[in-house]
Amino acid sequence: MANVELKAVHKRYGDVHVVKGIDLHVADGEFLVLVGPSGCGKSTTLRMIAGLESVTEGTIHMDGRRVDTLPPKDRDIGMVFQSYALYPHMTVRQNLAFGLKLRKTDKSLIADRVHEAARMLGIDALLDRRPKALSGGQRQRVAMGRAIVRRPTAFLFDEPLSNLDAALRVKMRAELAALHRRLGTTMVYVTHDQVEAMTLANRIAVLERGVLQQVGPALELYHRPANRFVAGFIGSPAMNIVDGSLRDGKFTLGGVTLLAPEAWAANRDEGSCGIGIRPHSLTLAEPGEGTVDGVVSVVEPMGWEAMVHVDPPAASGIGPLVVQVTGATSLPAAGETVAVSIDLKHAHLFAASGGETLHSPDPA
Ligand SMILES: Nc1ncnc2c1ncn2[C@@H]1O[C@H](COP(=O)(O)OP(=O)(O)O)[C@@H](O)[C@H]1O
Ligand SMILES: [Mg+2]
Repeated sequence: MANVELKAVHKRYGDVHVVKGIDLHVADGEFLVLVGPSGCGKSTTLRMIAGLESVTEGTIHMDGRRVDTLPPKDRDIGMVFQSYALYPHMTVRQNLAFGLKLRKTDKSLIADRVHEAARMLGIDALLDRRPKALSGGQRQRVAMGRAIVRRPTAFLFDEPLSNLDAALRVKMRAELAALHRRLGTTMVYVTHDQVEAMTLANRIAVLERGVLQQVGPALELYHRPANRFVAGFIGSPAMNIVDGSLRDGKFTLGGVTLLAPEAWAANRDEGSCGIGIRPHSLTLAEPGEGTVDGVVSVVEPMGWEAMVHVDPPAASGIGPLVVQVTGATSLPAAGETVAVSIDLKHAHLFAASGGETLHSPDPA
């Protein structure tokens, strides 16, 4: 097992600055998920840890040993890719054994390791099949097995579940969490899916445009996002974020003025700023003072809850809002005009420039 430490790591492809000074310490045995939108530099970061990309600037250490100058084979890392990268002409058994065979491992030890990994992953019955005779989920397990047999000191996963259908993804997610508990090995897992990140991670590192935004446990990021980007990225359905202006203790958005909560006292004359409020904290109300009126564009009934999408008039400058309604409330229909009530007690307050969080509400 190993801890992994990135210090001021940069990656440039010519003039393109892809990773911009990442400092990240992954603890021994930790499951760290690196999450961010497509193109933000996740794979590049992971590939630098694995040694598949060079580091332009900065250092990477594992257990205090500098590794960014070492070739991949000397880093003792197991990597699982989205594409699985199985050898099509080899059986599952041969695929699992290949890495150890290359390292001239003793034959009986290889057989033991292959069986152990196959049992752990529930693929013992498939050992003599070739990859093309396997389902997506089974191929995924073989790809993981190939990393497991080597007993690396750290695993790196690059969106390993994104080729699977939704139900299988949920199942494999649970298996992966169980596997981590069982092996106790350090894992760095990359995904663009924040739900996957929240369900798997000991800690989540949020990356945007090559810059690390925040690192912490899922609920810390959810309740205390460092900035507007993290606030909007973590949580499903996403937080509603609206621009407005705070003057003399009053917050104005569109044509609506709301009294700021006492907790915002330090920012009562902030000027331009943004607020963020989660769909479950908005309510549908009778039109009146302090409500934002709009037309229902979509209603998504999901059973015990429903998402109601509301479009305020374009002139208000307020973008679409999502209101989460629970229970047996009668739902409005698309095209209906409704009023949305905003209670600022439940809102996050963001600075206009940079978007850093000025205030977060206490978790209810
Ligand atoms: N070899 C390369 N040359 C130039 N740009 C690259 C190269 N590889 C990746 N990039 C760019 O770096 C950015 C980050 O890529 P990547 O790490 O794959 O993102 P992610 O995995 O978060 O989707 C992207 O904008 C991508 O186009
Ligand atoms: Mg990627």
